[in-house]
Amino acid sequence: MSDYILQVENIKKSFGGVRALKGVSLNIKKGEIHSLAGENGCGNSTLIKIISGFYEADEGLLRIDGKEYSKISPMDSIRQGIQVIYQDFSVFPNLTVMENLAFNMELMSGHKFVNYKRMRSIAKTAISRINFKVDLDERVEHLPVADRQLIAISRALLYDARLIIMDEPTTALTKKEVQALFKIIKQLQEQGIAILFVSHKLDEVFEISEGYTILRNGENVISGVTRELTDEKFAYYMTGREFSHTVNRDKPETDETVLEVENLSMKGAYEDISFRLGKGEILGITGLLGSGRTELVQSLFGINSPDEGIVKLNGENVHFKSVKEAMDAGIGYVPSDRLTEGLFLPQSIRLNTIISKIDKVTSKRGFLDTEQINSEVDHWIEDLAVAASDPEQPVQTLSGGNQQKVMLSRWLANKPTILILNGPTVGVDIGSKFDILALLRRLSSQGLSVVIISDDLPEILSVSHRILVMREGRIVEELVPETSSEQHLDNVITGVE
Ligand SMILES: Nc1ncnc2c1ncn2[C@@H]1O[C@H](COP(=O)(O)OP(=O)(O)O)[C@@H](O)[C@H]1O
Ligand SMILES: [Mg+2]
Repeated sequence: MSDYILQVENIKKSFGGVRALKGVSLNIKKGEIHSLAGENGCGNSTLIKIISGFYEADEGLLRIDGKEYSKISPMDSIRQGIQVIYQDFSVFPNLTVMENLAFNMELMSGHKFVNYKRMRSIAKTAISRINFKVDLDERVEHLPVADRQLIAISRALLYDARLIIMDEPTTALTKKEVQALFKIIKQLQEQGIAILFVSHKLDEVFEISEGYTILRNGENVISGVTRELTDEKFAYYMTGREFSHTVNRDKPETDETVLEVENLSMKGAYEDISFRLGKGEILGITGLLGSGRTELVQSLFGINSPDEGIVKLNGENVHFKSVKEAMDAGIGYVPSDRLTEGLFLPQSIRLNTIISKIDKVTSKRGFLDTEQINSEVDHWIEDLAVAASDPEQPVQTLSGGNQQKVMLSRWLANKPTILILNGPTVGVDIGSKFDILALLRRLSSQGLSVVIISDDLPEILSVSHRILVMREGRIVEELVPETSSEQHLDNVITGVE
């Protein structure tokens, strides 16, 4: 008997000229929750497919509960208790929940006729193990993503799983759904099942796993105990770059005011808001969801109108009745959901970058100045370190972090004097996150004024010159990062005294 459910030793795998895995090792103890982390393309999915028998390794071996395999068939991998929940969950949308859960079992059992009564009982057993409540006769296409995932997990449990591998299981989930999934993962662990949790999100790795392994470019970087990890180390191991959240000590050069808000109110959203924004200043706004912060910045950008109060831009009163008016006045707004509020996914990086200033690069007779467009786009791709081989690449092929950089470059191409960002690094990989924060600092030192909404406390404390905390529609405190802390900020946000 081995202490380990799975040991992977020196696995190599190439696809044509691409060396996806260059000798990777991984050890998972029985009943352990282990995270496998790495940036896009590091080889996580390839490794999983070798463990599941989908691919054959070029070199190396697997040990499952001590038993050695230089190659393993998909059937053997399943028989040894390994189950993979792939990113697409491998469920059939046009079949019912019951059919998805029990068809395979029924087929494998060798009965001559499909017996629906038997299938129903198999399906019931499956969902009961994780207390999953669902209508077995519902077609899967009518179910939300989180439920499809639970179907895949329930199905995996039918095969006496001893190790369940989840490939980036939280990508399409809301925060609440992630918490529900974590509860289930813990339940599975209590039943003696080990979990290999693939994710590049630090907070998730911290919360759920005991051990971790990090890959970079198809190679092991490090394995260890999760509670000994820190933000900085994790980011460094993932990317090979050093990051740290240091307080922004570069103060704006002038005390010139660009924006002033006086007693601004909007019914049901925010009340009696007053603040100023200086030239070259980064002003952080934080607060819980529903604290009114989003509605407030949307008012500044002409998306909605306040009921009362004054907004002054460079000393003059303004009332934006549309986004266009705000943009013409030099304000840019990067929304919180770049996918639904901004980017044209099937279109190229070039088009996405240039779209908001198309009238400026179009001559009176309607000709596009392609030379100007190209140089502009090249400039921003370089400045933002967008990881793309070609500006013609469709935006949907980029990682979340790189999509966000494209979104940013679109606004920067417009040369705003004030840039408002709502949660600019949510769902963004750590390397891109630090690129974005570094860029904001650089731009502010060149005179751009920035308003950034964020609930990432280390982030907002490191990038802002000043922070406004909102609660229930009001500004409850203004503070400077130098004399504050995460703990204090958290208390003010939640209203704990
Ligand atoms: N079937 C394949 N054919 C060619 N290249 C592949 C194949 N699968 C993966 N790769 C390449 O191998 C590398 C690792 O891919 P993958 O394991 O999917 O990474 P990730 O860590 O993002 O899951 C990438 O460079 C990818 O392009
Ligand atoms: Mg993958």
